Amino acid sequence: MTTTAPATTQLHSDVTEFLSKQPHKLLIGGQWKEAVSGKTFDTYNPATSEAIAKVAEADKKDVDEAVKAARKAFEGPWSKVTPSERGRLLYKLADLIEAHADELAQLETLNNGKTIRESRKGDLPLAVDLFRYYSGWTTKIHGETIPVSVPYAPGAKFFHYTVREPVGVIAAIIPWNFPFLMAIERLAPALACGNTVVLKPAEQTPLSSLRLGELILEAGIPEGVVNVVPGFGPTAGAALAAHPDVDKVTFTGSTEVGREIIKASAGNLKRVSLELGGKSPNIIFADADIEAAVKGAFMGIFYNQGQCCSAGSRIFVEKSKYDEVVEALVAKAKTVRQGPGLDSTTHMGPLVSQEQLDRVTGYVASGKKEGAKLLCGGERGDGALSKGYFLKPTVFVDVKDEMKIAQEEIFGPVATVMPFESTEELVARANGTVYGLVAGIWTKDIKKAFRTANALRAGTIWINCYNFVDSAAPWGGYKQSGYGREKGPYALELYTQLKSVWVDLN
Ligand code: NAI
Ligand code: MG
Repeated sequence: MTTTAPATTQLHSDVTEFLSKQPHKLLIGGQWKEAVSGKTFDTYNPATSEAIAKVAEADKKDVDEAVKAARKAFEGPWSKVTPSERGRLLYKLADLIEAHADELAQLETLNNGKTIRESRKGDLPLAVDLFRYYSGWTTKIHGETIPVSVPYAPGAKFFHYTVREPVGVIAAIIPWNFPFLMAIERLAPALACGNTVVLKPAEQTPLSSLRLGELILEAGIPEGVVNVVPGFGPTAGAALAAHPDVDKVTFTGSTEVGREIIKASAGNLKRVSLELGGKSPNIIFADADIEAAVKGAFMGIFYNQGQCCSAGSRIFVEKSKYDEVVEALVAKAKTVRQGPGLDSTTHMGPLVSQEQLDRVTGYVASGKKEGAKLLCGGERGDGALSKGYFLKPTVFVDVKDEMKIAQEEIFGPVATVMPFESTEELVARANGTVYGLVAGIWTKDIKKAFRTANALRAGTIWINCYNFVDSAAPWGGYKQSGYGREKGPYALELYTQLKSVWVDLN
């Protein structure tokens, strides 16, 4: 394990200027407003645990105002914008995000902790592409004509058509692991379909959503179409989920809160789509390209400090290659350079918050207590890193399937590596959690790869690769990893509803 002293990286002048606008306000109806309560909360740099900005704290009253503004925009100016013009606005926003990508990447890294390389090469280009992708869809969302027969009215003639319409006011409640990207993943299809949005970023990472709010206004998207209300889950989040004038909630986060959202949605039967946790298997067969598989398994669990819904946290290795893979993973983990995300030489940044660090170290303790063997990591960063929320990359062996660390989502840099002997045994164990988000398969045997892919109950399967995503490919979970599919044309189903129209021709 090597560590570096935090390098003082030069912040982009636009980042410094944005940070100086404190306290940051809520975006409601195109205006920047203080919270009705006047309250603010601090947001932190997880690499140092220092507060970096004060942000207005939205609560129920602010949420009410934001929903009102979103409704007004939905029924007013936004409904008058043609599909073609909507596409042009989304494309313009993509261009603006691209022009500000360096700045936005720094802001994201500063607030979330992830490495600048990940922000710059992953989150930002994906965000730009999502807006470009959905800007092309605005003019292609349409109904159909249906040749109806009507058995109880023989000979009767009708003209029947469907209209695909926006759902209305969407509440987007998003987490802190990919703050900017999660916001865009909701906004791009929601706006493309003609909805308006109230966006509640996670309390840990509100800054990139607020900067995005500025760019949305700069792009010329009418006021009230997007409203940004940072605040806490049990207050602002719960108010949105229960709000009688919100037509749909799209939520990404814990399975536990996902259940709360469903309950809260019952009042007005609002639509809900959920992207929840995972405990994903990354499966290495003995005939795999072991070097590639180790690289993929390593990145699969340690990318973004393991704070990914898609984290390949259960690494299954066929017995004959088990020792070799374990040894290679541990050797790699020991060379990881931890440091502030803004330092370009850093491989791995801090966890997002003290709360998350406590949660993850709790799982490390539980693994040890239940008898798993810790081969490396499990402890906080030392020296200059002790001020931040750093946890060394952690590898457990001697893990039993029923242990907590093999069943529950840890959401940190903690790998459990387990041997298997037969494919049947493997499939049962790989499917043996309440989750079903993704799975990885490493083998050179094409039939085995496809057979295993068929047998796994997961929304995404990667064969000889891991963690690839694209604007056009569906994303979502089986089982308790959620329901609904984001991205691609699939998200259009989530953000539209169908009207069936009959015209009498008799
Ligand atoms: P969380 O599920 O509590 O928070 C996610 C979002 O939901 C945040 O915006 C939060 O303010 C909001 N929220 C919280 N309680 C709410 C409520 N009662 N009503 C409406 N909105 C509410 O996640 P948290 O506490 O940050 O992390 C806990 C665990 O959740 C993690 O350790 C991880 O296992 C999982 N998680 C999964 C994510 C994923 O991408 N699937 C993302 C974040 C967390
Ligand atoms: Mg929570």
